[in-house]
Amino acid sequence: MPEGDLQEATRSTAAPGAGLTEREDFRATSDPALQGGEGRGVELLSCRQLYQLWERQQWATQDLDFAQDRVDWHERIEPDERYARMYGLSSFFVGEQRVAAELGPMMWACPAEEERVFLCTQIADEARHVAFFDRFYSEVGVLEADHLEGRLQETSEHLKEEFGALFDEMLHRRVVRLAQEPQDTEALVEAVTIYHMVIEGMLALTGQHFIIDYNERMGTLPAFVQGFTNVARDEHRHVAFGARFLRDMVAADERHRTAIQRTLAEVAPVADGVLRPNWVDPSEDDLELFGVRISETRAFAANALQRRLRAIGLG
Ligand SMILES: [Fe+2]
Ligand SMILES: [Fe+2]
Repeated sequence: MPEGDLQEATRSTAAPGAGLTEREDFRATSDPALQGGEGRGVELLSCRQLYQLWERQQWATQDLDFAQDRVDWHERIEPDERYARMYGLSSFFVGEQRVAAELGPMMWACPAEEERVFLCTQIADEARHVAFFDRFYSEVGVLEADHLEGRLQETSEHLKEEFGALFDEMLHRRVVRLAQEPQDTEALVEAVTIYHMVIEGMLALTGQHFIIDYNERMGTLPAFVQGFTNVARDEHRHVAFGARFLRDMVAADERHRTAIQRTLAEVAPVADGVLRPNWVDPSEDDLELFGVRISETRAFAANALQRRLRAIGLG
């Protein structure tokens, strides 16, 4: 990208991603992080209403044309920046594949039929998100491998240790438990806390917010931005389900409140590590990545979690 354009684009004074969080279709999900106020008493859609919203918010990865993205990636983005961008995107590509695989036992363990129906729509969404990243990586030519497994393997090499701890140990342990004991509602509450509140709510949506905003300011990767915006809208719907489910579970049994708090305390330090790229020292909170300080991304994630917890009835 020519230097003048880059400086002009970085000078934008608009709040990062403000346009996204104010969109009508995003707010329609009822995710407490997108509503006014502090989160307390926010009206949350029922599982049936969330299902109906899913029917209205369909999209197809096949509709995206990545021709301009390919030009941007190879001709307008410098190699150093390509590496930094690839690092950020890797956790999404692999993350989508990991979570899609964990949802089966969680869906099976949900006590109500409407909850199970909603989680079936989420399984379809997560599969579509994997397909979206796979198309982006192959059409744009980001990696060398020529098939899905190979691309997942190649992109896994960019991941941090904390990523594995969060997905493959903390979440996976609860899901294995649910596969064996689907009646264990405490394990289900813990799994939804990790999956919907931390992985989707704190990590995925924070990354999406800043990555979309950066590309819009730079005028890069238009089809990626279009698809990733659809992914973000899906994630807000998933998080809204998580908030609704946890609120109902806390109202039904106080033990679930403790289960949420206990789980958050356990995963918070690991989640924090996932938000920092490999090459960033934990003390460097003021370091800027893509025009945003790391401390800003952490504050954004913490604020969204706070609002959702208040909506659930905690804090
Ligand atoms: Fe997803
Ligand atoms: Fe999701």
